[in-house]
Amino acid sequence: MNSPFTFGKIAKGNNFTNRAFEMKRLVANFDDKVNTILISPRRWGKSSLVNKSASLFKKEKNKYSVMIDLFNIRDEAQFYSYFAKKVIQETSSKPREWMDTAMSYLKRLSPKVSFPVNMTNDFEITFELRDKAEDFEDILNLPEKIARAKKIEIAVCVDEFQNIANFDQPLLFQKRLRASWQKHQETVYCLYGSQTHMMTTLFERKSMPFYKFGDVIYLSKIDSTYLTEYIVTQFKNTGKKIEPDTAKRITEEAQCQPYYTQQLAHIVWINTDKAVTSEIFERSLTELIEQNAPLYIKDTESLSNTQINFLKMLIESERKDIYAKELIQRYRLGTSGNVTKIRTVLINKEIIHLVNSRYELVDPVFRLWLKNIYFKS
Ligand SMILES: Nc1ncnc2c1ncn2[C@@H]1O[C@H](COP(=O)(O)OP(=O)(O)O)[C@@H](O)[C@H]1O
Ligand SMILES: [Mg+2]
Repeated sequence: MNSPFTFGKIAKGNNFTNRAFEMKRLVANFDDKVNTILISPRRWGKSSLVNKSASLFKKEKNKYSVMIDLFNIRDEAQFYSYFAKKVIQETSSKPREWMDTAMSYLKRLSPKVSFPVNMTNDFEITFELRDKAEDFEDILNLPEKIARAKKIEIAVCVDEFQNIANFDQPLLFQKRLRASWQKHQETVYCLYGSQTHMMTTLFERKSMPFYKFGDVIYLSKIDSTYLTEYIVTQFKNTGKKIEPDTAKRITEEAQCQPYYTQQLAHIVWINTDKAVTSEIFERSLTELIEQNAPLYIKDTESLSNTQINFLKMLIESERKDIYAKELIQRYRLGTSGNVTKIRTVLINKEIIHLVNSRYELVDPVFRLWLKNIYFKS
């Protein structure tokens, strides 16, 4: 039998749990054409949530969704090609229409459409972009024009939005997007991404183009009660047994972070024949840390000694007053100015974040690895 747990992929079907409240809010935003900005650290469930909400939204016949993932989009030109292609593709099921749509709406840009060999269900589109506002507008207004012509509504969902920071002129790019998108009536946007600090800057700073673009949602982790119930049910449905207390311990070790909860539950499930024992649980927790260790080794290699000392201080002391003299001395952090610098770097790298006015490691298993292995050796 296959494991009833999934991680590293979009959570779907019976692997998707809870989020009822967030889903309702998101679908209502799509319906009401309220743009949404969704922010959380990596692997808290943004992509899964938006995916699920978009599929609920498009259950109605005249509603469509376009899922854009900026994960490997490196520059603005690549973005425009990809954006146009996805909008055209997702709003028409007939490949024959693709070329016509491109030609009729994007004529000014002399679009070149090509079909990869042996692929009838995909195509590429490239343009000769001049550096003119009207060129960018033609592309950015494409969903709205199609929506009007076809009398449909479109939800455009842009994942890994924080990646636009790597474009040559991120600010100019944001201005272009905002200038076009804010006028749209039949198209609604959902922009989501990690690197909480950066995303927050993009959407909450008055001087930034996307300020007040829409409803900003900070996605939380999934409540322990739901996760515990989910784990118990998944075990039961596959003929294995886990006590609610042990299931709860899984969520505690993973600090309710959806990805690690699923990964740890998966390992426990694999290691269990009939019923989970505490020996199986402990062994699985060690495996969880070991399986992820290569990533953590890489992460620590990119940190300086004082940055590592700072993490050690956070983990060992669990204190709020990170500027306390004795801490700075004991962990050799230099000056308080230095502590500020370290803190900023670690926040920007999304290694730490502020929770209830105390700095914590974002990644619960990285924390376990540091505590149980790295700082012990
Ligand atoms: N609603 C959910 N129910 C159960 N597990 C989830 C849920 N959302 C996310 N997960 C788990 O977390 C992992 C990461 O989710 P993902 O949506 O890719 O997060 P993000 O986009 O924030 O990085 C998934 O592979 C899955 O294991
Ligand atoms: Mg994602």
